[in-house]
Amino acid sequence: MSTNIQWQSFKLTEADRAKIKYQQPLCLWMTGFSGAGKSTLANALEVKLNQLGKHTYILDGDNLRHGLNQDLGFSMEARNENVRRAAEVARLMVDAGLIIIVGLISPLKSEREHARSLFGPNQFKEIYLSTSLQECEKRDVKGLYQKARAGDLKDFTGIDSPYEAPEAPEIELNTENLSVDQAVDVIVKAIL
Ligand code: ADX
Repeated sequence: MSTNIQWQSFKLTEADRAKIKYQQPLCLWMTGFSGAGKSTLANALEVKLNQLGKHTYILDGDNLRHGLNQDLGFSMEARNENVRRAAEVARLMVDAGLIIIVGLISPLKSEREHARSLFGPNQFKEIYLSTSLQECEKRDVKGLYQKARAGDLKDFTGIDSPYEAPEAPEIELNTENLSVDQAVDVIVKAIL
């Protein structure tokens, strides 16, 4: 950080912003393989929270890569920057008083721990979608596993790029055994 830049303090706090929304701001961080169900679950969870009168936003890996992160590829360095930026945006949105649902592969423990470090003690919930690689590859909704196996797509998570599973996530869900509605229920019960 430049030594010539000072932090500006403003009068309203996160708590002031959250109070008029009648909610505790949170970062719900979903991690898991491509095809594990992150976007599907984020979508259904946001609908449910909205019905419950909560103010939310989704930060989805694929979508962020169309704009904010469009300059980033899939090397470990690029993913690290992708995750770092998403975490900073989530931090700002939590400061604004929102409940943020992040859906990123975020393959490394160190980058998820860095994300966690930006938030207060109970404000960051790691949600591990532990759907197996085998199942994700079987689903292959976007046809990317097939491309990766054929060697047409390099550095694909689970094929030729690593994924470190969380050891102590706040919530673990295997979408092979749970319906989307059941998974939403588990999360809503855990956070509200
Ligand atoms: S992360 O590793 O940097 O967290 P992110 O969640 O943003 O990944 O993006 C993953 C999405 O990008 C996947 O769901 C998939 O649709 C697409 N994608 C394209 N190339 C790759 C790749 N090499 N590895 C993983 N996902 C890829």
